[in-house]
Amino acid sequence: MAMVSSRLVFLVSICILVSQAIAQPDFLYHFCLDKGNYTSNSTYNTNLNQVLSSLSSNTEIDYGFYNFSYGQSPDKVYSLGLCRGDAKPDICRSCLNNATNLLPLLCSNRKEAIGWYDYCMLRYSFRDIFGIMEDSPAFFMWNMNNVSANYDQFSQDLRTLLDSKRVQAAAGGSLRKFAAGNATAPNNQTLYSLVQCTPDLSDQDCSDCLAGAMGDIPNCCDGKQGGRVIRPSCNLRFEIALFYDPTADNASSPSLSPPLPRVPSHDSRVTESNQSKSSSVQASINEVSITELSPR
Ligand SMILES: *[C@@H]1O[C@H](CO)[C@@H](O)[C@H](O)[C@H]1NC(C)=O
Ligand SMILES: *[C@@H]1O[C@H](CO)[C@@H](O)[C@H](O)[C@H]1NC(C)=O
Ligand SMILES: *[C@@H]1O[C@H](CO)[C@@H](O)[C@H](O)[C@H]1NC(C)=O
Ligand SMILES: *[C@@H]1O[C@H](CO)[C@@H](O)[C@H](O)[C@H]1NC(C)=O
Ligand SMILES: *[C@@H]1O[C@H](CO)[C@@H](O)[C@H](O)[C@H]1NC(C)=O
Ligand SMILES: *[C@@H]1O[C@H](CO)[C@@H](O)[C@H](O)[C@H]1NC(C)=O
Ligand SMILES: *[C@@H]1O[C@H](CO)[C@@H](O)[C@H](O)[C@H]1NC(C)=O
Ligand SMILES: *[C@@H]1O[C@H](CO)[C@@H](O)[C@H](O)[C@H]1NC(C)=O
Ligand SMILES: *[C@@H]1O[C@H](CO)[C@@H](O)[C@H](O)[C@H]1NC(C)=O
Repeated sequence: MAMVSSRLVFLVSICILVSQAIAQPDFLYHFCLDKGNYTSNSTYNTNLNQVLSSLSSNTEIDYGFYNFSYGQSPDKVYSLGLCRGDAKPDICRSCLNNATNLLPLLCSNRKEAIGWYDYCMLRYSFRDIFGIMEDSPAFFMWNMNNVSANYDQFSQDLRTLLDSKRVQAAAGGSLRKFAAGNATAPNNQTLYSLVQCTPDLSDQDCSDCLAGAMGDIPNCCDGKQGGRVIRPSCNLRFEIALFYDPTADNASSPSLSPPLPRVPSHDSRVTESNQSKSSSVQASINEVSITELSPR
């Protein structure tokens, strides 16, 4: 009897531990890069835990960008966290906290990994990844709904809007390179877009990264009412419904008009899946497909 109940307690506590370990929401996408492995309880493992815990427990940074490192070469770990520019600090911290818990579990023993949520991105590596523009690994998502009419005009409006946001984000300064805004698209629709770079990039690198991401739109989101191109150093998103907080700094500056594209090139691995979006800011954006561009 006593033994049964202590076993039960043991099992129950295992279940609690397991469910805590997997409580974090899934990433939109993540990559466990095959650039090196560490062993459990190694110095690298300890340094990784240390840098991730200092990142997730930091309460001083309020601009949503974290470039923390810990340890000594060759076991030094570089970690970079970036929150979406319109995310409030508490959302940002919650998002990064989830990411720091989940990514090392999904990518156990990999020295380099990257994962994206709607509201944040987390990367870590044994390489110095600070201030360096990287365009892969990347992935796309697109809204399943097609642009209803005047596709060429829609694309042109989207491109004009994204170009203006790109210039604005690149000029955003060393703490924040983010811009969001709307424009009018055909059929009296409003096109909303958001672009962001890690703020450790130079203005030029940010602009180049976003220009490259815009160039990927034809590979992912041609003819779609919404899409995202997500790279380690920058990302963009557009939709015909409001999906960002328009009260965030620089989110609602005067805007011009809107852009767009769909399938991966042959040297890319492709996976597709459906994903349900449930966040309140994503009303009417119900289905997306994901395409992965493998690391080059
Ligand atoms: C890392 O470990 C995985 C298996 O866990 C293995 O497939 C991979 O080749 C290893 N990578 C390196 C660079 O040693
Ligand atoms: C790592 O350390 C923990 C606690 O010290 C221990 O329980 C575990 O068995 C160790 N794992 C390995 C693979 O050495
Ligand atoms: C973090 O995970 C918790 C628990 O699953 C969830 O309630 C919360 O919404 C997540 N935070 C963010 C910003 O997604
Ligand atoms: C969008 O257009 C494509 C190609 O014309 C078509 O296959 C697909 O079914 C359309 N999707 C919707 C949601 O109408
Ligand atoms: C807003 O954008 C302008 C450039 O358009 C930039 O100078 C300013 O620093 C940005 N503000 C913030 C808080 O990012
Ligand atoms: C376009 O939308 C605006 C505001 O939603 C509305 O006032 C206007 O009548 C609409 N125009 C047309 C042609 O539908
Ligand atoms: C970390 O980021 C801040 C803000 O962009 C920047 O000022 C600082 O130079 C960066 N530090 C390193 C080590 O890259
Ligand atoms: C578009 O952005 C402007 C600010 O630049 C804002 O005043 C306007 O309400 C926005 N339009 C829509 C339909 O959200
Ligand atoms: C997406 O979901 C729809 C219905 O929910 C299903 O018919 C379709 O096969 C799914 N597509 C993929 C790629 O899973």
